[in-house]
Amino acid sequence: MYLLAIETSCDETAAAVLKIAQWKNRVRFLSNMIASQATLHAKTGGVVPEVAARAHVEKIIPVIRLALKRAKISIGKLAAIAVTAGPGLAPALAVGVDTARTLAWSFDLPLFPINHLEAHVFSAFIKEKNFSLPQKKRVFPAVALVVSGGHTDLVYARDWLKYKKIGQTLDDAAGECFDKIARLLNLSYPGGPALSKLAKQGSATINFPRPMLKTDNFDFSFSGLKTAVLYYLRNHKLPTTNYTLSANIAASVETAIVDVLVHKTIQAAIKLKAKTVLLGGGVAANLPLRARLKEAANKNNLNLLITKPEYCTDNAGMIGFCGWLHWRKQNFTPLKKIVVRAGWELT
Ligand code: KG4
Ligand code: ZN
Repeated sequence: MYLLAIETSCDETAAAVLKIAQWKNRVRFLSNMIASQATLHAKTGGVVPEVAARAHVEKIIPVIRLALKRAKISIGKLAAIAVTAGPGLAPALAVGVDTARTLAWSFDLPLFPINHLEAHVFSAFIKEKNFSLPQKKRVFPAVALVVSGGHTDLVYARDWLKYKKIGQTLDDAAGECFDKIARLLNLSYPGGPALSKLAKQGSATINFPRPMLKTDNFDFSFSGLKTAVLYYLRNHKLPTTNYTLSANIAASVETAIVDVLVHKTIQAAIKLKAKTVLLGGGVAANLPLRARLKEAANKNNLNLLITKPEYCTDNAGMIGFCGWLHWRKQNFTPLKKIVVRAGWELT
């Protein structure tokens, strides 16, 4: 059976096709297409929702067509559709949800409304192109860190799709912190990858604060770090043309963020006696974060599943995978109840 997945929550128009052998519990990713709006938003240094939505309208049909073409199937072969219903930018989400609803209605298919963050939580299970789910007792309970542009959440999962949020950022998300500090350093959009690239040339010589590192909960806070960098730049009359100093600032910022993310995640896993740690979301593409979490998980005898880089930043493959998890549990939602939920937080 074939499932089409659609993602338009922010600035990527994405569609994927998955082939599912439900009785064998196996899935194969046939295509995973993304039309990025990065160059469009680079002009404004951030995403303007209406501009993003207009670009989604232009790209959604060509991207779906391409995903079907790559998968070598016709639209009539589809058995289900999954679409991101939230959280995200309302006008952007509406393009994906309306397109999916129209297709589902026209071809009489079940439509699964997917929470984008839930998809990031479970994206770490996506393996090679053809794989089956691991036995649940080998993986769960698990603690998942979801780090994206808008969210930094810690989640305790006791089974597939059964989870509870145990911590979150009280202000800026980790990705937002990367992006805002990148802007202070005059780096290009999107800031996270640019800051990380610059950090590779520097050393973490500046001791920026590690907010909430020692607090006895699983929450985060990153706005203080951004302010500390702002003051540092002001006091030193920066940003500077001194490349080494900029690189040292970037490396110090990245180290501070990674320190907090790794420490809190491992502490949560230990305290809650988790077997596995999961890492997902755009910031999970960050190489030092991946390396440091691996080191810490090994040291504490925890299994670690890190999302493959192509499924970290926004993509439809992870939406399809999460759609399949709902499908195998027969979690159907009537078409008329499927609406955009821009503020759909994990609970
Ligand atoms: O999950 P995602 O693609 O979109 C949201 O759901 O928000 O995450 C985007 C975020 C951005 O803040 C971007 O700067 C950050 O992920 N990001 C990175 C890296 N790649 C993407 N941050 C740090 N290092 C990276 N390599
Ligand atoms: Zn995301």
